[in-house]
Amino acid sequence: MERSLRALLFLGVDFLFPDHLRPRAEAAEIYFDGSHPIQDYLLKLSASHLRAVITKDSAHEAMIMCQSDKPLKKLMVEIGRMSEDRLTWFGATEEKLTLGGASVYIYSSPIKGLEENAVYRYRFVADDAASDWGELATFVSDKTEAIVFTDSQCGGDYSDWYKTFNSAVNRHKNAKLAINLGDIVDNGEALWHWEGWYKGIEENLRKRIFAPIIGNHECYSLKWKYCLPKGFLGQFKTPANNSEKFEGYYYSFDYGPVHFIALNNNFLEIDPNLPGLLEEELIWLEKDAIASDKPWKIVLMHKDILAYNEYNAYTNDYGGLNDIAHDFMGVFDKLNIDLVLTGHMHVYRNRGHIYNFLPSDKGPYYILCGLSGNARYDVPKDETFDKVVLQGKETDNYLHLTATKEELSLVCYLSDGKILDEVTLRK
Ligand SMILES: [Fe+2]
Ligand SMILES: [Fe+2]
Repeated sequence: MERSLRALLFLGVDFLFPDHLRPRAEAAEIYFDGSHPIQDYLLKLSASHLRAVITKDSAHEAMIMCQSDKPLKKLMVEIGRMSEDRLTWFGATEEKLTLGGASVYIYSSPIKGLEENAVYRYRFVADDAASDWGELATFVSDKTEAIVFTDSQCGGDYSDWYKTFNSAVNRHKNAKLAINLGDIVDNGEALWHWEGWYKGIEENLRKRIFAPIIGNHECYSLKWKYCLPKGFLGQFKTPANNSEKFEGYYYSFDYGPVHFIALNNNFLEIDPNLPGLLEEELIWLEKDAIASDKPWKIVLMHKDILAYNEYNAYTNDYGGLNDIAHDFMGVFDKLNIDLVLTGHMHVYRNRGHIYNFLPSDKGPYYILCGLSGNARYDVPKDETFDKVVLQGKETDNYLHLTATKEELSLVCYLSDGKILDEVTLRK
């Protein structure tokens, strides 16, 4: 836009910004479209953990979040195309999150009006201070590229998680979506676990869109009792599911040619405090999957379908298809789900297609993802379903997922770049 065509307003912008949402607005040039030029800020804003959480329509929307130890006044997000020198302000909402007696302030800012296949920069600003820049790439409509992690929980320090996450995002620079299948932290009510999880990934996390799923460890209190996932719900404002009881517990989103369905299957941990999740979710799942016209439908959920050496509540025994399998697999068959990604067991297993509860050459493809933290388990092979089992002691791994309309491809990597398994599905 020619500068001469830009009407510059120096005052009288109240119609655009209410008093509490005007950092430096009195002194700023404001263009007709409400944007303003990039300005230098004197101070560094004491905001940490910048992140863009997945939205329902990540081609045009974003949910930008950050955290502070103290309340931040007049906080806003500035966002603009990387290729332009103009930014637009958006307001931010404050929520005080108290976990285990300690409190932090979490800010979220829903952004609308983004353009598809574009790269944006964003930061939080307040008065004379600005945070570091984050980056946000809206997706390309005909392609999906993502990295899938699970079980990043760590006992002690989170350095194994930093190594896995940072090596993956550096290896796959075009994968702008990062998914975590749950047990993000070891104890969902411990703020120090959340702080530990963020600490070594800050720089890369704020340049990706993050899609988190709730695991059973997000539902543990400091005393290791079942609790509601208050920590997770405070940390991540995921897409609305319009549930009265379970907002933030499960959701879906589109990314390129894929419709992702993020389920919550921690019924054992959640039911005692808030019953009814499974029944509600099954109704929602059916409507949600049927309403999508995307070529691929991928389910993301924390707990796996096989019991292995854990007690199986469905058979009242050990091993075999568990209660989660019997809750969902028939429905996944009916809804033509293409791929189901799970975690929880901390080992990688490729089961191929399963249909009508049996190994098959059709039906959803099931992959149990490994771990990205430091809790390593010994899990025996399931002789009926496990087609690919890693040799030796399990070490951190992740999936690189790419999809076009015709082809869905998964590669399982170790954090050092070694390839462990490859899967290609075609329409
Ligand atoms: Fe886990
Ligand atoms: Fe788990």
